[in-house]
Amino acid sequence: MGWSCVVARAVAFLLMLSRASALTSDIFAAGKSDKEILDNLLKNSRYDKRLLPPVDGVLTVNVSVLLLSLASPDESSLKYEVEFLLQQQWYDPRLRYSNQSHYDFLNAIHHHEDIWLPDTYFIMHGDFKDPIIPMHFALRIYRNGTINYLMRRHLILSCQGRLNIFPFDDPLCSFALESISYEQSAITYVWKNDEDTLRKSPSLTTLNAYLIQNQTIPCPIKASWRGNYSCLKVDLIFTRDRAFYFTTVFIPGIILVTSSFITFWLEWNAVPARSMIGVTTMLNFFTTSNGFRSTLPVVSNLTAMNVWDGVCMCFIYASLLEFVCVNYVGRKRPLHNVVYRPGENPVTQRLPAVLSRIGIILASPLGDKKRESTGAADLVTCTACTGAPGSCTHTTNNGGVSEVRKKEPPHPIRVAKTIDVIARITFPTAYAVFLIFFFIHYKAFS
Ligand SMILES: *[C@@H]1O[C@H](CO)[C@@H](O)[C@H](O)[C@H]1NC(C)=O
Ligand SMILES: *[C@@H]1O[C@H](CO)[C@@H](O)[C@H](O)[C@H]1NC(C)=O
Ligand SMILES: *[C@@H]1O[C@H](CO)[C@@H](O)[C@H](O)[C@H]1NC(C)=O
Ligand SMILES: *[C@@H]1O[C@H](CO)[C@@H](O)[C@H](O)[C@H]1NC(C)=O
Ligand SMILES: *[C@@H]1O[C@H](CO)[C@@H](O)[C@H](O)[C@H]1NC(C)=O
Repeated sequence: MGWSCVVARAVAFLLMLSRASALTSDIFAAGKSDKEILDNLLKNSRYDKRLLPPVDGVLTVNVSVLLLSLASPDESSLKYEVEFLLQQQWYDPRLRYSNQSHYDFLNAIHHHEDIWLPDTYFIMHGDFKDPIIPMHFALRIYRNGTINYLMRRHLILSCQGRLNIFPFDDPLCSFALESISYEQSAITYVWKNDEDTLRKSPSLTTLNAYLIQNQTIPCPIKASWRGNYSCLKVDLIFTRDRAFYFTTVFIPGIILVTSSFITFWLEWNAVPARSMIGVTTMLNFFTTSNGFRSTLPVVSNLTAMNVWDGVCMCFIYASLLEFVCVNYVGRKRPLHNVVYRPGENPVTQRLPAVLSRIGIILASPLGDKKRESTGAADLVTCTACTGAPGSCTHTTNNGGVSEVRKKEPPHPIRVAKTIDVIARITFPTAYAVFLIFFFIHYKAFS
């Protein structure tokens, strides 16, 4: 009786040691329920969850990511919320069961504590929205010993944007996966390469977060601080809603600055109108800019926004100052009792004279002809002005008058008008040049 007992024990021991399918087939014979199969598989005597799955060489964990939702709490912040399902798949030969069973896979969700699982953790800047221990997960054991572990994760990533070109930057958010305790020689993580490793759920909702690019890569050597651990990295590149910034910042800014230029087309002495335009546009710009600024993160290097605000304020303020100058100059008492002739346009009138003088200097042999032609022009203007005979008498003896006029100082009102006329050209031109430079330099349309 003792002998037979010893033999039976020895046979049982040998059977237990061997992982032959012959053994498993009789334990997991057809007709066993999934509960029985799981209980048998995970018996303490044959399965120890403390040990790595006994595979040849390194255990490979295949990883893929399914994006569920993307959101940015605030368009101008650098925080992005990413919700995804992380799928990890590996092979554990201890958990094979016979293909005679009619179950394609066993649902081991309630054996979460009893099965060896990779100790994957996230390397990232940001927070977990959920408890660190996953609560929503799926755990399946396939016939051939493949284990599929799916869990839901919700991360709040702090991303890197180039704030110096804000809002034309594309923030980069990244996070990495690594095993906390098993070195590269024990576990390697690989991106599952049979399909897209980073997929979008069909129901993906993007709440003002615009994903433009993604990549799934092994961690670059220099980025991983623990050299001997296998590590995978996800890079998500978002873009900001350019249309939003154009409609709330840039177009209102352009409208206010160009409105402040209207003042150059008004009379030099239209004090209420011109001061109102200057002050209103300036106050309005401050309000708009402050309102927008209050939504921005307080960081030091918002270069593009600072340039925009600064230059626009300068233009508005300069156009207000220009009015003050014009008004001041226009009110000065004229020297030498120069008579102001209304209706004459200082620039267009002076332009032919300047041009002809240049012409005389350039081509002195042709000087006489030029003089004749300017004389003819003066004659024509004289015959044209019939309403003011006084001014006509002044210009009839043409050559002498132009000499006199060159010497006498211009009337203050004419100076004021000239400043306005110059401002009409220079301010819009300078602003246009600034706009072109700004939007090209900060790659607004790339
Ligand atoms: C993991 O992926 C490799 C190919 O990249 C494949 O050969 C292997 O069977 C996969 N392992 C599992 C457990 O799915
Ligand atoms: C499944 O069972 C059949 C016999 O029923 C056997 O021929 C086959 O090799 C088994 N497959 C696996 C993967 O064990
Ligand atoms: C194991 O079975 C699953 C499901 O049938 C399959 O997706 C996987 O590729 C198989 N793995 C191996 C290593 O055969
Ligand atoms: C990630 O990028 C690949 C190509 O680079 C693209 O096919 C895939 O759709 C992208 N995934 C998401 C979620 O945008
Ligand atoms: C990585 O492993 C190598 C040899 O396996 C060892 O010499 C080295 O010190 C390890 N590095 C770290 C950071 O543990």
